[in-house]
Amino acid sequence: MSNFEYALAPESTAILNIAPQYGLFIGGKFVDSKSQQFFSTINPATEKVISQISLATEADVDFAVASARTAYNKVWSKLSAAERGKYLFRIARILQERAREFAVLETLDNGKPIRESRDVDVPLSAAHFFYHAGWADKLSHAGFGSDPKPHGVVAQIIPWNFPLLMLAWKVAPALATGNTVVLKPAETTPMTALLFAEVCQQAGLPDGVVNIVTGDGSTGALLVNHPDVDKIAFTGSTSVGKAIARAVSGTKKSLTLELGGKAANIVFDDAPIDETVEGIVNGIFFNQGHVCCAGSRLLVQENVSDQILEKLKHRMSQIRVGDPMDKNTDLGAINSSEQLARINELANSGDAEGAERWSPACELPTTGFWYPPTIFTGVTQAHRIAREEIFGPVLSVLTFRTPQEAIEKANNTPYGLSAGVWSDKGSRILWASQRLRAGVIWANTFNKFDPASPFGGYKESGWGREGGRHGLAAYVKGGK
Ligand code: NAI
Ligand code: MG
Repeated sequence: MSNFEYALAPESTAILNIAPQYGLFIGGKFVDSKSQQFFSTINPATEKVISQISLATEADVDFAVASARTAYNKVWSKLSAAERGKYLFRIARILQERAREFAVLETLDNGKPIRESRDVDVPLSAAHFFYHAGWADKLSHAGFGSDPKPHGVVAQIIPWNFPLLMLAWKVAPALATGNTVVLKPAETTPMTALLFAEVCQQAGLPDGVVNIVTGDGSTGALLVNHPDVDKIAFTGSTSVGKAIARAVSGTKKSLTLELGGKAANIVFDDAPIDETVEGIVNGIFFNQGHVCCAGSRLLVQENVSDQILEKLKHRMSQIRVGDPMDKNTDLGAINSSEQLARINELANSGDAEGAERWSPACELPTTGFWYPPTIFTGVTQAHRIAREEIFGPVLSVLTFRTPQEAIEKANNTPYGLSAGVWSDKGSRILWASQRLRAGVIWANTFNKFDPASPFGGYKESGWGREGGRHGLAAYVKGGK
């Protein structure tokens, strides 16, 4: 078969209206930070500065928490559940109306392909608001007692891999259950959260119900340690998650943590080969592998491993790496130079420890942060690339002979967020799923998300669930 050629298909950024500088969103308004300190957010595909972002310090965090407290006491806790639901429906609809703007801005700030921000991040974010809008007036039927109560003021800290989607996962259930929010986006990807602040204004959401403070880890730590915060929800690295757990222990604050992963994607010898190869590619190269539930450890049954690897390499040679704004791009930019350095460091340890590296020939742009789709074969369980989260487009391939060996290797990790099973036999899928210690298990598919389905991990992957009825439990007092 001859090569398909693709003409350039860049998405225009003309729809965006970006200010040179942003304040903080507190009490329903954009306000100057008291610190008057700024940092830049850049486009990781070009290294060009997008805007100057305020760094919130102690006085700003105090102001934001106070505004969330006032909104909770005076307005939000007094509103009927049905009225709360109306605001969520309105936000969901505005996200749909402004979907293109959000997708372009997300891709600009994060580096992910426009195809993904347009077809995954933004529609799923709207879906989260619709789903939780429906829950708002039905909480007394959710199994949390006849009159479940919110915590009050919730601090939410999110990472850079799915900026708008993680905002939606946090804000939608918090508001549906009657909490008010102070949210801190990640320092490399604050733009869609700031655009979301405009959506809150447009929806007429009462002032102070959602507050957005931009900043870095120091801002996050101020929020975590603030005495007037009732609950903390965090998504990010396991090391920061552990630090937050230590900071909160001994306080009355409630805590949910969504942390890292090192998911096994298990391929049995009766798996449908071509679908499996697509699933492996989706599992590790979706969003440049910046996915906590990425299928980053491929466990393939030995008697089919040559065949699978040959097809996988062929498929990887078709992956188009480059301009995230191009609608044909499959693999965009790595989110930051720091993340690129982490990927390099771990991948180099794979070489040093004796695994064999393979990448298809691909030309990487000269500016920006890039990493080619990469697989390592000959990986053993002792290798760092089999144990540590790489959070990049790098797949570690291990083999197994018996189903029991597959389960033992899959569970041999400090994490337990997700797993995949590929097999023609339903009985084998059920047998494996019952033995895998992972919060989410995909069968003959991977990276499927739905607001109605709970998501979360075992062990060092975190505490609590997001999505579905289980996710609501984290936002009501005594919820289980
Ligand atoms: P990180 O955990 O430092 O950042 C996540 C969020 O936490 C950001 O908003 C950050 O400003 C905030 N933060 C940082 N330090 C904090 C503190 N002491 N208290 C409160 N908030 C704090 O993640 P980072 O450094 O960007 O990435 C490092 C590694 O973490 C990645 O290579 C990846 O392996 C993993 N990671 C996992 C994610 C996941 O979804 N599971 C998301 C992001 C990173
Ligand atoms: Mg950025």
